Amino acid sequence: MAWHQISVITSENTAPKVADFFSDLGAVSVTYMDAKDEPVYEPAIGEIKIWAQTRVIALYELTVDPANMKSRTLKHFQQEALEDWVFEEIADQAWERTWMEYYRPMKFAGKLWVCPTGQEQREENTVCLILDPGLAFGTGTHPTTALCLEWLASHDVTGKTVIDYGCGSGILAIAALLLGARMAYAVDIDPQAITAAEDNAVKNNVQDKIICCLPEQFKATNVKADVVLANILAKPLIDMVGQIAGLVISKGQLVLSGILAEQADSVIDAYQPFLLLNKPVQQDDWVRLAGIKR
Ligand SMILES: C[S@@+](CC[C@H](N)C(=O)[O-])C[C@H]1O[C@@H](n2cnc3c(N)ncnc32)[C@H](O)[C@@H]1O
Repeated sequence: MAWHQISVITSENTAPKVADFFSDLGAVSVTYMDAKDEPVYEPAIGEIKIWAQTRVIALYELTVDPANMKSRTLKHFQQEALEDWVFEEIADQAWERTWMEYYRPMKFAGKLWVCPTGQEQREENTVCLILDPGLAFGTGTHPTTALCLEWLASHDVTGKTVIDYGCGSGILAIAALLLGARMAYAVDIDPQAITAAEDNAVKNNVQDKIICCLPEQFKATNVKADVVLANILAKPLIDMVGQIAGLVISKGQLVLSGILAEQADSVIDAYQPFLLLNKPVQQDDWVRLAGIKR
């Protein structure tokens, strides 16, 4: 199968809006890439950045008309905010290579590198997570993941048990293990995510400390953890409040992501009875909530 790939360069602030717009227009995948070979270094506290100039890349089925897509996008955004439109028809087998060409090492809180194979960063006092874009969500480029990685890399998880609920690629569970966690559980409703998380665990040599499973299998373990990260979306987070808050031990930490800024208050209302919440941290349109279990 072939695909239409549409990509455009825009600013750090506009990129997530363009990505959401592409998704709304039916993209089967959207990702960010560095447009100007600008490595992402440690952001200021509370700020997590992608790139000042970001290429947003969307894949569509061939039935989509690229010219129509362009005119709708230009109508929605100011024309000068978008540059270097590229349309390509790409074959399925070129998919992974296309992403890999642009995917660059990223550093979180001065301690955690996330790098594609072949671009590993071996720097003193840092750990390096090897991750290649695949079918499961979670490369570190999306603000919701970046917010969680930033949290992990700036907290001491040494010796802790961690649950990554909604694990996608397993990036958060694997990052926690590389940062010193004793054991991690990576849980997802999507079997493809479980496979990806297992493969990524092997790639990062943490396969002996991780259990990747579906929610029903996980439920049977009755595990509670010192740290629970759930990067899902506001609605499931609210719907599952009792279940997710119940995974954290008393005085343990819960990190919630996948929340749009305008949804933060509803999630806070749902979780406040269970948690002492810190001030929300925002990147672009997305918010991370974190707190201590009461
Ligand atoms: C935004 S991705 C996050 C992936 C990764 N943890 C990260 O931070 O990049 C959300 C993941 O949650 C999973 N998910 C959605 N609803 C879920 C549910 N009710 N229980 C478990 N996983 C769920 C999805 O399949 C998806 O892989």
